Amino acid sequence: MREVVEVQYSALKGFGTSTVPGHKSVLAFGLIEGVPVVAMLGRLHPYEGHSMSTVVYPIRLMAHLGVKDMIITNAAGSLRPTIPVGTIVVIHDHIALPLLTGLNPLLGPPTSPDHARFVPLSSAYSRPLRLAAFRAAHALGLEKDALAEGTYTWVSGPTYETPAEGRFLRSVGGDVVGMSTIPEVVAARDEGLNVLVLSLVTNLVVIPDSYRSVREEVEAEIAGLSIARPSTPTVTHEEVLAVGKQKAEVMKNLVAKIIGSLSNA
Ligand code: 6GU
Repeated sequence: MREVVEVQYSALKGFGTSTVPGHKSVLAFGLIEGVPVVAMLGRLHPYEGHSMSTVVYPIRLMAHLGVKDMIITNAAGSLRPTIPVGTIVVIHDHIALPLLTGLNPLLGPPTSPDHARFVPLSSAYSRPLRLAAFRAAHALGLEKDALAEGTYTWVSGPTYETPAEGRFLRSVGGDVVGMSTIPEVVAARDEGLNVLVLSLVTNLVVIPDSYRSVREEVEAEIAGLSIARPSTPTVTHEEVLAVGKQKAEVMKNLVAKIIGSLSNA
């Protein structure tokens, strides 16, 4: 970004502070490929204890500043072996159990008389922006499977999924899972913004096909047999940050290329 002006969230009335390790709390204004942009360095999530209205406040502010297109990047776990670590998934739909069950940023009176009471999400993820993402990947010479298309499943976090929950999310049609983004997408659609979401797969969700029976293990013990006890792998925030760091350059180039293509649209 060129000609950067950074503003701390703390200097802005109504803003929350990001508390996630690796996230700053800065709003950065500047130019990418000559296009004026505003970037959030650090986002706000319900799992930090922020209210939904605080989480989406920056989106509403940016809409009021005249932003028309919003690109969200995030880290996500893959629910499918066909979507390996390092893949950037261009999101074309979502499944958000918290929205369906009452954690929705639009609960309450409409924020403006201009806004629809019932906001449709059937085409929330802009087709022109998704096309722009794949064109940009081609223009950058990225490998064909560097990008994928998929459905983001949103969970509130901060716990990672259990194996049974991972299996559930995959079986209902999820491709990746994460703890962010969807509140912002909903508010952005409420504000009439075009939305693009790019999810970087930082890890595979642990979904064993079966459980190792403890009954069998005890029976083997009683029979005097020794059997191996493999431990279940777990996800760590460190691994999420590490893959994020490795792929930061690719994501940066992709986002810049997409933004550059918008100005020529
Ligand atoms: Cl495995 N799950 C969730 N909910 N969020 C993630 C993740 C997994 N990996 C990165 N973010």
